[in-house]
Amino acid sequence: MASLVRFFGLAASIAVSSALTIAEINGNKFLSPYNGQTVSNVSGVITAKGPDGLWIRSTTPDRDSRTSESIYVFGRAFGTNLTIGDTIVIGGRVQEYRSNKDYLYLTEISSPTLEEKHSSSTAVKPLIIGKDTTDPPTQQYSSLDGGDVFAVPNNVSLISVANPLLDPKKYGLDFWESLSGELVTVRKPKAIAKPNNFGDTWVVGDWKVTGRNARGGLTMMDKDANPETIIIGSPLDGSSNPSTTKLGDDLEEITGVITYAFGFYRILPTTSIKITKSAKPELPAATKLLPSGNCDGITFGAYNVENLAPTSSHMTAIASHIVEYLKSPDLVFVQEVQDDNGPTNDAVVSANLTLSTLTAAIASAGGPNYTFTDVAPSDDQDGGQPGGNIRVAYLYKPSLIRLYKPNPGGALDANEVLPGPTLKYNPGRIDPANAAWTASRKPLVAQWEVIGRNGRGNGKFFTVNVHFGSKGGSSSIEGDARPPVNGGVEDRLAQAELTANFVKAILTKDKKARIITAGDFNEFTFVEPLEQYTSISGLKDLDAVVGIKPVERYTYLFDMNAQQLDHMFVSDAATKKAQYEHIHINTWVDRDAQISDHDPSVAKLDVCA
Ligand SMILES: *[C@@H]1O[C@H](CO)[C@@H](O)[C@H](O)[C@H]1NC(C)=O
Ligand SMILES: *[C@@H]1O[C@H](CO)[C@@H](O)[C@H](O)[C@H]1NC(C)=O
Ligand SMILES: *[C@@H]1O[C@H](CO)[C@@H](O)[C@H](O)[C@H]1NC(C)=O
Ligand SMILES: *[C@@H]1O[C@H](CO)[C@@H](O)[C@H](O)[C@H]1NC(C)=O
Ligand SMILES: *[C@@H]1O[C@H](CO)[C@@H](O)[C@H](O)[C@H]1NC(C)=O
Repeated sequence: MASLVRFFGLAASIAVSSALTIAEINGNKFLSPYNGQTVSNVSGVITAKGPDGLWIRSTTPDRDSRTSESIYVFGRAFGTNLTIGDTIVIGGRVQEYRSNKDYLYLTEISSPTLEEKHSSSTAVKPLIIGKDTTDPPTQQYSSLDGGDVFAVPNNVSLISVANPLLDPKKYGLDFWESLSGELVTVRKPKAIAKPNNFGDTWVVGDWKVTGRNARGGLTMMDKDANPETIIIGSPLDGSSNPSTTKLGDDLEEITGVITYAFGFYRILPTTSIKITKSAKPELPAATKLLPSGNCDGITFGAYNVENLAPTSSHMTAIASHIVEYLKSPDLVFVQEVQDDNGPTNDAVVSANLTLSTLTAAIASAGGPNYTFTDVAPSDDQDGGQPGGNIRVAYLYKPSLIRLYKPNPGGALDANEVLPGPTLKYNPGRIDPANAAWTASRKPLVAQWEVIGRNGRGNGKFFTVNVHFGSKGGSSSIEGDARPPVNGGVEDRLAQAELTANFVKAILTKDKKARIITAGDFNEFTFVEPLEQYTSISGLKDLDAVVGIKPVERYTYLFDMNAQQLDHMFVSDAATKKAQYEHIHINTWVDRDAQISDHDPSVAKLDVCA
């Protein structure tokens, strides 16, 4: 039998509203219509307890799927004598809380007072997501995104200002908001990324998803950025989530409460995540693309080697990736090569020692004797880790290819296309003084010739190695600004236009020029900078040329998404018989085994004249 305890005199007499239901407090929008007001006589069953408060579920639910039937009651000592399953009647102040102005607000009842308590041992039943609720929407986050979460301009409206009516069947943020405070179960959860430093792990359950890749993650695609995902935060029982969870791992069923914190809707699980089945095979296969030794099958590797310095602990592993997994491509586009003393912030800009250490490590791993070429930047002008002077560079097999009429440019020399077409500087940087490159890497253009063998003839081709400006300064995809701020998008647009116009200048002189542009573009093909890049240059996205399935186009994990920042774009003349593979050597492994934050790629192209 439930016992009834009544607390006289505790019901706040200043209450402006009495006997509100939890659904009425939450309302059918993001913000509570009672924000800032004192309420009393709010009844609910305790469904979960956390270190700073507890969650209650309405005893008088409505039939509106937009209004959450649960709410967080914030107050550290409040739950001391209360137990999960107790029905309580409380008063307090309705508050919209966020820890950062760029986040969404969480509706909660703060400064709670207990008005009644009915002890009971009623079991509280979690809502099973996708069974007791509709399925989470799979593509769009908010009605305020205008159909495209990556539309430019960004941040044209704020959820906290527009406060739209919730549409939980259509928009992911609305779906999770409509369940704010609810105790839920995720059936058959699968990890779709590695945990962050706090053990927080993105998952999907057994509901309908879009964008699933063969490894079990969800790949971001045009107008589909995967709002059907949820991050699992710190367990309510004080335990810790494992740090070893990997993309595609199967997890034990998760039950917890939905809240919003640190920029995302999240589930705080009652206890820690448990891995039931680790994704296999642990490592991807090596590339199948082997050099032919002739111009008809030159292999091109591309790898962001993440702040590589001569003393980097990941030097040997990078070298072994290039040899074992990329099978020693004839030409390698590398990005994020630091200067000879790495992040030491002095006047050193040369990367000769870094690159010769890398080529020596490759040779000792059983690879070829690569030669390298780069152009050192002006000190502290190209962004990245302070003092590191990161730049792009090429490694190549001197027995097979060589720079055509080499004439290396300096940091400030702007390359030009000369009749031929040939390059004024080989290699040389694109318009390095242009403001578009402020605190960013300048692309390195080179022209190459294949040294003829077996009477097969020579081939000449151009390469552009890019590392566009980063997405630093982005706001959360589940944050207040809509569409979210895509940090640096204006810079990348200007950078894409300059690079595309350089490529176009080559193609104007020779429409049959073989041009391979590759690297870390820090952007997706369906966002304006790369849409402009292909449109101006006429280059083809190699993923599309060879028909890699859109869900398998990823080289990076960020938040809930497998995504592609690293691309190759080639001219028409280089598309014949083209082959291309992304080697998921870093996205598949756990955090400790990850060598770079990017996956490398390999292409095999015919560059014969
Ligand atoms: C509290 O709500 C109940 C019904 O929900 C009502 O019967 C009661 O009068 C209310 N008490 C106060 C103090 O408002
Ligand atoms: C919990 O109950 C004890 C014993 O009745 C009481 O002394 C204490 O004040 C209560 N704590 C709270 C926060 O209500
Ligand atoms: C780096 O190597 C290039 C090419 O071999 C050479 O011209 C340059 O002087 C070297 N820089 C330093 C600082 O050794
Ligand atoms: C690389 O160069 C070293 C020294 O110049 C030589 O001993 C070695 O055989 C070369 N390796 C290959 C694969 O050509
Ligand atoms: C979005 O714009 C608002 C002004 O409308 C500004 O206050 C806010 O800081 C911006 N958000 C971000 C993440 O830049």
